[in-house]
Amino acid sequence: MTPAAPLFLLDGHPVPFKPGETLIEAATRAGRHIPHLCWHPGFAPHGSCRLCMVAIGERQLAACSTAAEAGLEVRLHGEALAAQRRTLLQLLFVEGNHFCPSCERSGACKLQAEACEAGVEGPHFEQLYPDRPVDASHPDVLLDLNRCILCGLCVRASAQHDGKAVFALGGRGLGTQLVVGSASGRLGDTDLAASDLAARICPVGAILPKRRGFAVPIGQRRYDAAPISALPETDDGMPPP
Ligand code: SF4
Ligand code: FES
Repeated sequence: MTPAAPLFLLDGHPVPFKPGETLIEAATRAGRHIPHLCWHPGFAPHGSCRLCMVAIGERQLAACSTAAEAGLEVRLHGEALAAQRRTLLQLLFVEGNHFCPSCERSGACKLQAEACEAGVEGPHFEQLYPDRPVDASHPDVLLDLNRCILCGLCVRASAQHDGKAVFALGGRGLGTQLVVGSASGRLGDTDLAASDLAARICPVGAILPKRRGFAVPIGQRRYDAAPISALPETDDGMPPP
């Protein structure tokens, strides 16, 4: 007889896990959504967005980098955690230039979907309106750093999946920015292909395929149909061209 999988409790619901799994990996496999932006099932955790914070006793921990243990009582919901999540999301919105109604990714953007899920109704904080470039030099892919949330997913996808080094994160603290790995700093001078995972994995509208922006009409996109918590995790970003 196969021994039963060990369990932890997520808001009182039992979640089975395999040895070595993190809380978010096990919860996702069990069909339970833990909010996240920088985590992706195909890559090691980055731990930067802090949206996946859960409470275990008095401690708050990132579910993407905390190993599951039998008997853990994990809290995801609750007013304090929800308020913290809303604040993190509002800060992401004001730190960049996110104009959802005019963004090609609207309805298929994880930042927008998590904000809706968390009940964010406005920016709350003063908009910083940073001056960031748009790089349209690549024939098939647009890079709009106004929308970059520094999740590092394109960096990991390029290095670990595509075997390239198209993107990197440079600078420190508030000066951290996405850097393009070509001598000119232009995307068009890299070996990025539109079919690369790095070109498709961006959870927001910072890396976009050209000429396909409205192939799926607004109103019929992934998060138009259902809240993010009701949908399975996607594991490979936008479909290849
Ligand atoms: S461009 Fe997109 S995938 Fe890359 S770091 Fe910015 S938000 Fe993340
Ligand atoms: S998903 Fe855990 S810190 Fe971003």
